[in-house]
Amino acid sequence: MSAYTEARDVAREDPSGFWLAEADRIDWAVPPSVGLDTTHEPLYRWFPDGELNTCANAVDRHVAAGRGDTVAIIHDSPLTGTVRRITYAELLDEVSRFAGVLAGLGVTVGDRVLLYLPMVPEAVVAMLACARLGAVHSVVFGGFAPAELAVRIDDARPTVIVAASCGIEPSRVIEYLPMVDEALTLTDHQPRARVVLQREQAPAVLGPIDHDWAEAMARAVPHDPVPVKATDPLYILYTSGTTGRPKGVVRDNGGHAVAMAWSFENVYGMGPDDVWWAASDVGWVVGHSYIVYAPLITGATTVMYEGKPVGTPDAGAFWRVVADHGVRGLFTAPTAIRAIKKEDPSGSHLDRYDAGTLRALYLAGERLDPDTYLWASERLQVPVVDNWWQTETGWPIAANLRGLDPMPIKPGSPSVPVPGFDVRIVGSDGGVLPAGQDGAIVIRLPLPPGTLPTLWGDDERFVDSYLSAYPGCYTTGDGGYVDEDGYVYVMGRTDDVINVAGHRLSTGSMEAVVASHPDVAECAVIGVHDDLKGQIPRAFVVLKSGSEADPEALQSEIVAAVRDQIGPVAALKEVVIVPGLPKTRSGKILRRTMRGIADGRPEPVPGTIEDVRVLEAITPLLRP
Ligand code: COA
Ligand code: AMP
Repeated sequence: MSAYTEARDVAREDPSGFWLAEADRIDWAVPPSVGLDTTHEPLYRWFPDGELNTCANAVDRHVAAGRGDTVAIIHDSPLTGTVRRITYAELLDEVSRFAGVLAGLGVTVGDRVLLYLPMVPEAVVAMLACARLGAVHSVVFGGFAPAELAVRIDDARPTVIVAASCGIEPSRVIEYLPMVDEALTLTDHQPRARVVLQREQAPAVLGPIDHDWAEAMARAVPHDPVPVKATDPLYILYTSGTTGRPKGVVRDNGGHAVAMAWSFENVYGMGPDDVWWAASDVGWVVGHSYIVYAPLITGATTVMYEGKPVGTPDAGAFWRVVADHGVRGLFTAPTAIRAIKKEDPSGSHLDRYDAGTLRALYLAGERLDPDTYLWASERLQVPVVDNWWQTETGWPIAANLRGLDPMPIKPGSPSVPVPGFDVRIVGSDGGVLPAGQDGAIVIRLPLPPGTLPTLWGDDERFVDSYLSAYPGCYTTGDGGYVDEDGYVYVMGRTDDVINVAGHRLSTGSMEAVVASHPDVAECAVIGVHDDLKGQIPRAFVVLKSGSEADPEALQSEIVAAVRDQIGPVAALKEVVIVPGLPKTRSGKILRRTMRGIADGRPEPVPGTIEDVRVLEAITPLLRP
């Protein structure tokens, strides 16, 4: 029996015992005596009687163990031309003082703190300071517009908002505070205070409830870690669902800490002496798990990069960072590699740097297409490791476990289910399908530690969205198959969520914006293939009768509205006017059929279709 099959089988047969044995990777204030709590099935909780502080595990314990001089964070920012190294001892000082700042503003156990911060070390400091107090952070990605920020503020109801004065994109400096101001004109909820990190690229004018980060830190009283229950929330991270309303994915403290420590070693093969770089953003789940928590809980060095794969300054940017900091594990999204490949197809920029420290490249966030896999493998000469997961799970569902038991890699597959995730492929009747057959990918309950226990303040929506379609299972929303060797193939979403440049977006929320245009009678937004970004949204609109809208003007108005109300990351650029939308007899738009045609996989027209002529008329318009 291999190390993998043994761990997989034990985790399946005795999940509670398996994970309780792994819990000693963490320093507990009160060690748990129980692994899994099943009393409120299907709502499971991990380590119900354990108590800990996540920040103490990510910072204090390493200093206490004599590793205070080890570098915790390397902040490398080609966008500001700076590199900053922060040791664990320095991180402890900053985090405990910022926890003091937040406590001074009245933040206490269970309070929410919303963070709207770019890729600066202060984002990590703020996250950990919340964890230190037992407060719940909710980080919002900088590429979202005020309206999206507002929805999150009203759902999380933060006591305090921590924001930077600006974020920096290669093409522009983005002032953040005006966006927070605008968001707060849209919300019912108002925070008690805001802490503003002033950046020299665009300092903000502070208002009556604002506190300057640097001034507050200068007079802060350091705060000790507050032990919380393992089941208490550590953070809320909003992610796109099928409808416009984002889902507040909750992460607990205990299960999450154990999962982070376990996966960093067993999936990614990293330890405390390694320099690790997850080239993502703290606003996404990859940033939470693998820029911040997993490397720091392990005591490793994490690289935080404020830049892009290309253009900052060129397609050698990633290899420069690897060489400069001796990166051993690099994690990014396939789209970043496609961007590099597009600019530098021969990989010539690699020759300029010594990337010899790199042991593996990890890719996730969207399907890793075989071309990108082959290009990266040939150029880098290290294993290129696809791993499949989602905001909800917080860590990989399927991966090639480089630390536990490396396996042969099959292009197009993220390899095998990670121990703890009992993956099944099911048909529309809920029956388990045999190897090779396509279906919905579900995971048998219970999910392992570190996965979402619920949605923020909404157990019912959690059960409805994830646990109802296939009783006893969690619905991933992805479709695919498992081959004869047990390798999982994830082919795409079965719902209306799309993945644009590794960013997860809801077509439903884009449709809501498009439909509000005065000339639009109805619309559908679907994801179509894009060579660089994987998918891009394309809007199909039916005009109101009598409308004489000019197509070009209409397109630019709709594009501007989506950018304004959702944010630049939505990347909606194309609006196509169509005579009608294909519908079922009951009036439901056949988005799936449209997607299939756009992807060159025409599905048989369902017998229930209302008007076949409409489908015929729009078919040529659907193809890229
Ligand atoms: N704040 C404000 N705006 C942002 C932003 C942020 N944090 N991040 C992106 N944007 C803006 C971009 O400037 C761009 O605006 P534009 O339309 O005015 O040019 C828009 O949002 C779209 O951004 P993006 O989709 O990222 O496209 P890009 O052309 O700027 O870059 C890639 C393309 C592939 C280089 C980039 O998407 C990338 O590095 N992706 C990796 C994805 C990733 O890390 N995913 C996380 C999961 S691992
Ligand atoms: P997010 O919650 O933003 O991490 O997005 C999760 C979704 O991205 C998943 O449900 C998948 O649709 C997709 N995804 C992430 N990683 C992979 C992967 N390795 N292969 C295929 N799809 C992926």
